[in-house]
Amino acid sequence: MISFLRKFKEAGILGINRRIGEFILPYNPRENYPLVDDKWLTAELAASNAIPMPEHYAMVNEFGRVKDVPLLLKDRSSFVVKPANGGMGNGILVIDKTTWDENGIPTYHRVGGREMIYKELVHHISGILSGLYSLDGNSDRAILQERLTAHSFFKEISYQGIADIRVIVFCGYPVMAMLRLPTKESGGRANLHQGAIGVGVDLKDGVLSFVVHKNKIIPEHPDTGQRLEGRILPSWKEILHLAASCYELSGLNYLGVDIVLDERRGPLLLEMNARPGLGIQIANKKGLMSALRWVEETSGVKRSIEERVEMSRRHL
Ligand SMILES: Nc1ncnc2c1ncn2[C@@H]1O[C@H](COP(=O)(O)OP(=O)(O)O)[C@@H](O)[C@H]1O
Ligand SMILES: [Mg+2]
Repeated sequence: MISFLRKFKEAGILGINRRIGEFILPYNPRENYPLVDDKWLTAELAASNAIPMPEHYAMVNEFGRVKDVPLLLKDRSSFVVKPANGGMGNGILVIDKTTWDENGIPTYHRVGGREMIYKELVHHISGILSGLYSLDGNSDRAILQERLTAHSFFKEISYQGIADIRVIVFCGYPVMAMLRLPTKESGGRANLHQGAIGVGVDLKDGVLSFVVHKNKIIPEHPDTGQRLEGRILPSWKEILHLAASCYELSGLNYLGVDIVLDERRGPLLLEMNARPGLGIQIANKKGLMSALRWVEETSGVKRSIEERVEMSRRHL
């Protein structure tokens, strides 16, 4: 069976890939890349600009400090470990619960029920520091972060873990969006590369459309069997507003913003990407080019975040 991706290529839509490489990415000032490539720098930047993010418990930047991790996490039953410089979900551990034996030795319970003993966690963090998961292969730092709680909207449709919403923002205008839901295979992470599914989202009202798994359109979530088309994402305008505000935050013209809708705190910034993938076009059955051209034509005038969001909702 011919995959949707191949059909897309034949229709010339992924030709935009090159276009983005040659025209869009050069719009992003290189000196601003570290602000989004390094999640610790992003967190500092967001904190000083009152952009809500998950709480950061600690950062581990030396092998000598890895042994302190249980102490750094002493009151936390759930948490997330991630490489500061990682991508595509690589190296991320989502710990749902910690139990302690009578000697105070912790066992960490991962999403999906897999257990890790203390030594394995230490080994994993050492791997992060040595650069095993880092985008550039250099040594890295490990972030210990609050494990977010999925908004109740996702409880029925998602298989454990945390869904996120990817919004492509060009010159401050949201141009395309996709909801990503973890699957059994993706270990609580919402990255398409880990086997998560992508769902197209209508920019105007946050209505869900097509479901994509491994570059193929499928009718429903593969694990929960739930149909997704037609459901409406809660807090949609707030999500778009947060995404659009990342233009001012990062100084980047072409940006993929990952947002989580937390049960308690509403939309939170998870991370920003300077080189977002193009799978989003498949989930929306639409190429990005016409939206990017529209922004090129309209963005000459300086506008507020609200104005940009409203214009995108009306036009795209
Ligand atoms: N604090 C968190 N709580 C729960 N899940 C998380 C958290 N951080 C990340 N995840 C899960 O891991 C995925 C990837 O995280 P992200 O920070 O975007 O890193 P990457 O750069 O590897 O994509 C998210 O989409 C989400 O599903
Ligand atoms: Mg991400």
